[in-house]
Amino acid sequence: MSSSTAGAAAGETARVPALQMKNISKAFGAVQALRDVDFEVYPGEVVGLVGDNGAGKSTLVKTIAGVNVPDTGEIFVNGQRAHISGPSDATHLGIETVYQDLALCDNLDVVNNLYLGREAVTASVGPLSPLNELEMERRTVEVLRQLDVKLPSVRSVVESLSGGQRQSIAVAKTILRNAKVVLLDEPTAALGVAQTRQVLNLIKRLREQGLAVVVISHNLADVFEVVDRVIVMRLGRRIATYDIHNTTPEQVVAAITGAEFGESGDAENGNGHAGGATGDVAQPA
Ligand SMILES: Nc1ncnc2c1ncn2[C@@H]1O[C@H](COP(=O)(O)OP(=O)(O)OP(=O)(O)O)[C@@H](O)[C@H]1O
Ligand SMILES: [Mg+2]
Repeated sequence: MSSSTAGAAAGETARVPALQMKNISKAFGAVQALRDVDFEVYPGEVVGLVGDNGAGKSTLVKTIAGVNVPDTGEIFVNGQRAHISGPSDATHLGIETVYQDLALCDNLDVVNNLYLGREAVTASVGPLSPLNELEMERRTVEVLRQLDVKLPSVRSVVESLSGGQRQSIAVAKTILRNAKVVLLDEPTAALGVAQTRQVLNLIKRLREQGLAVVVISHNLADVFEVVDRVIVMRLGRRIATYDIHNTTPEQVVAAITGAEFGESGDAENGNGHAGGATGDVAQPA
């Protein structure tokens, strides 16, 4: 929130990004969805990824998540070259993605959703013992408290919860998996005012915990409330980067629509900085 947060992420050249991508390109047939995109997010930083429909945001996130394999480019996690060729590779590297459809099971309660597919197994006792249920419940309560998520009960069935609460559970699940980088694709798109507030607060908690967070959003009010930097994509390119404290929604909208650049070639530089953008981005390789 404070400018020092963003400043720390931007200014300390010695800091190593939690996640860095260089020269990522991806085509789907004739559609060039990503063109030479560089991307970086630091520990304890929230980056907003914005752009018009079809700009390539989800494709970029899916590349990080191992759902799409890029045609070209390199990915680094904590400065180490990483090879992500499937979602499990991303998970092992501490990268977790929350998609809009959330993948929660409506008929299960909160505890069981959080542990779905990875129920706490104690070898000596067996997977279905009450002990494990208690341990899972204890951890669930702990993680939700850590993230300041308020629910009627951790034994509430998920279908009885609000959209914001469900989104919070999907995020809490990433924490249980020890995520270091959390990617959120449109986390507030379907939410009302109070629910949006809950999710924005949750994103701030993630930053406080030192996670690197990437938020895709079409809602600039949300972006301006919660991010440290905003990266603008257009037509598959990274077109601009702004320190959130040194820009305005108007500037960001102009970059999204291309008005910022007119018909000029700035946009063609891929990683060009728009007016008002800070020099905080990694330079193109
Ligand atoms: N699996 C796919 N097969 C073919 N084309 C795809 C596929 N995924 C994305 N594309 C195309 O790649 C481009 C970028 O799509 P992407 O979903 O990344 O956009 P976006 O920025 O997330 O847009 P939105 O804001 O609408 O979610 C679009 O032209 C899209 O049609
Ligand atoms: Mg998308």
